[in-house]
Amino acid sequence: MILIKLGGSIITNKEKPLSPRRKTIDNLAKSLRKIQEPMIIVHGGGSYGHYWSVKYDMHTQPRKYDIKGVSIVKNSMIDLNKIILDSFVKNRLTPYCLPPTDFMTGNKPIAKKVKEIQKIAKSGLIPVTFGDALWFGQNKTYILSGDKIMTHLSKILKPRLSIFALNEDGLYSDLKTKKLIRELKGESPKISENKMDVTGGMTRKVEEASKIAKMGMDVFFVNGNKPDRIVQAVKNKKFEGTLFKGKRHG
Ligand code: IPE
Repeated sequence: MILIKLGGSIITNKEKPLSPRRKTIDNLAKSLRKIQEPMIIVHGGGSYGHYWSVKYDMHTQPRKYDIKGVSIVKNSMIDLNKIILDSFVKNRLTPYCLPPTDFMTGNKPIAKKVKEIQKIAKSGLIPVTFGDALWFGQNKTYILSGDKIMTHLSKILKPRLSIFALNEDGLYSDLKTKKLIRELKGESPKISENKMDVTGGMTRKVEEASKIAKMGMDVFFVNGNKPDRIVQAVKNKKFEGTLFKGKRHG
């Protein structure tokens, strides 16, 4: 089982509100076709969900946010999700859309539902879920990031590999020279410069990736503009990006 997160920065142009990168999405879909293993896709919000979350001042902490904001963020994620699904179908993949309301209650995953997602993936369908505005309870809502979903799914499903497709080659030890960190063995990298968004930008991704690696599973950060690197990682275990080696405690 492989988990793949398509980051908002790769599937949308984050500089411009509501702008999907259709060609990039198509190229990703074409590469994913080369993967024979069961996989689950999670995608981010980019210039859809994040754009509106900022406008309506919505964050990851459960609060009584503007209900209009909740509706609009949710709608925008459906729009972006539809673009992904259409591209997948057009490129002869078999997506099976699963909004996070299907397997989350409040801010907790429903283990039984998550295990069902695995069965769906093993049937040949490709479950596709995404970061979203979610009901928390007691009139509170929150933004659930796709990165967090990766951790929830990993904890329950123990995927062989979790991949984060980014708009960069991976993590850099030095942003100026763009020197790539090829492998991390349990150490937590320091994130210096960071474009923050409502779910915490790169810091969040590294945090969630480190959590998954600590649970013992490999996590790979890869450039989504070079989608064949995803295929290579899955098929030949050749990692052209940043690999967080899965390490068990004790
Ligand atoms: C964000 O999901 C979802 C919303 C803002 C509704 P992510 O936090 O996973 O999105 P990206 O990948 O960073 O854009």
